Amino acid sequence: MSLPSLPPFRSRVVPVVVVADVAQAVPMARALLAGGIDVIEITLRSSAGLAAIEAVARAVPGMHVGAGTVTRASEVRQVLDAGAAFGLSPGATPALLEAVRAEGLPFVPGVASPSEAMAARDAGFTLLKCFPAAQLGGIEVLKAWAGPLPELRFCPTGGISLANLAQFLALPNVAMAGGSWLTPAAALQAGDWARVEQLAREASALANATPA
Ligand code: 3PG
Repeated sequence: MSLPSLPPFRSRVVPVVVVADVAQAVPMARALLAGGIDVIEITLRSSAGLAAIEAVARAVPGMHVGAGTVTRASEVRQVLDAGAAFGLSPGATPALLEAVRAEGLPFVPGVASPSEAMAARDAGFTLLKCFPAAQLGGIEVLKAWAGPLPELRFCPTGGISLANLAQFLALPNVAMAGGSWLTPAAALQAGDWARVEQLAREASALANATPA
């Protein structure tokens, strides 16, 4: 059985968000959308994560909500029930990938080495999260993987910011890139949605100006 595809978002920049309070979720997602970003990774790193996914999925039409930091098989059903359109993980275990397949959740497994990428590919996944991208060696690592793994596309995250985003997005094997710089905790806490919109606008302008 083939794996379900990711939803049709346009943005090549993926905000990776830790929501401290569910009340932040909807205005933050609206600000990102206003800034030109139609996809978001809401992580399960905070206790508000699932409720935030649910709130954005229900209240922000046009925003494609992914659940991030899905590390356990038991979380797959939870994020689907919350309304996530897809999931992402910093890694991949056989149990996690089996649950994703059984439940039909479109999924981006995480990898940090060629062997992990090959295992994910053999399990049927061709878009993989490269994590932690900058710490692993940044664009040089992704360039090196392009030779032996030409069928794979990556979403690097970890250590990405406006300063190096374009370098990542210019690589032919990079489909999109993500990071937490778009939604700083202080801005979320202060309800500074204009700041979030501005960060989104800068990143999406840069992404749009960078050929795939
Ligand atoms: C992730 O899970 O993708 C990363 O924690 C994001 O890393 P960053 O905070 O360095 O952007």
